Amino acid sequence: MSTKKRRKVIAGNWKMNMTPTEAKELAKGVYEQVKGKKGCDVVVCVPFVDIPAVAQIVKGTIIKLGAQNVHFEEKGAYTGELSADMLKAVGCEYVIVGHSERRQYFAETDQTVNKRALAALNAGLKVIICVGESLQQREEGVTEELVRMQTKIALRDVTAEQMANVVIAYEPIWAIGTGKTATADQAEEVCGQIRKVIGEVYGEAVAEATTVQYGGSMNAKNCEELLSKKDVDGGLIGGASLKAPDFAVIVNAATKG
Ligand code: PGA
Repeated sequence: MSTKKRRKVIAGNWKMNMTPTEAKELAKGVYEQVKGKKGCDVVVCVPFVDIPAVAQIVKGTIIKLGAQNVHFEEKGAYTGELSADMLKAVGCEYVIVGHSERRQYFAETDQTVNKRALAALNAGLKVIICVGESLQQREEGVTEELVRMQTKIALRDVTAEQMANVVIAYEPIWAIGTGKTATADQAEEVCGQIRKVIGEVYGEAVAEATTVQYGGSMNAKNCEELLSKKDVDGGLIGGASLKAPDFAVIVNAATKG
């Protein structure tokens, strides 16, 4: 099947990097490098405090703005959290949900990932839902079961219509920030399994239309091979998204196929 039906999405995940001043510079750099590019969506998911500064730079450009987390309640006594409406109000179009660092360090569970995804979708945000196995889980041979389960639970009560606003990022934990990338075949295999489970829940048409990214040490050198795979519809990029020229190489690679 051709990937033509699906839009590739290249999203930078800046994680806990960049003060607002630095973020402005990086966003300007990214803009300079990717302006005029066609054929893939470009997103930068920035720390909360950087959102206003980056919003100013990317407004009216091809770069879309995203956050890295969102709370599942609309408002109330949730110290330190931000709601989906708040993110929308400051110009976010996307939000990452369920990144493995949030699952690992902040006790995020499949259930809270689902609640956050629903809150974001119901507020009109697009979500990038992260799933992926640890090294131990891969070695135990449970990657497929685990990723199927994470995907299914994350999407509980998400409607077929809302799936148009869902991106799934397959991010093997052992490949994140380690320099150890999954091989293109490993990425393709699991992205295909994710598409299969989406097909089981929502039917073939939704599965074929859903963007499934790979993330985990994707960089300027390995992006072309990863993105050439038919079920890999883009990337969620950490380290390499902090250098505008490297990020631009990945965007370029995504515009090709
Ligand atoms: P990395 O991070 O590219 O630095 O491995 C990817 C991610 O965590 O989204």
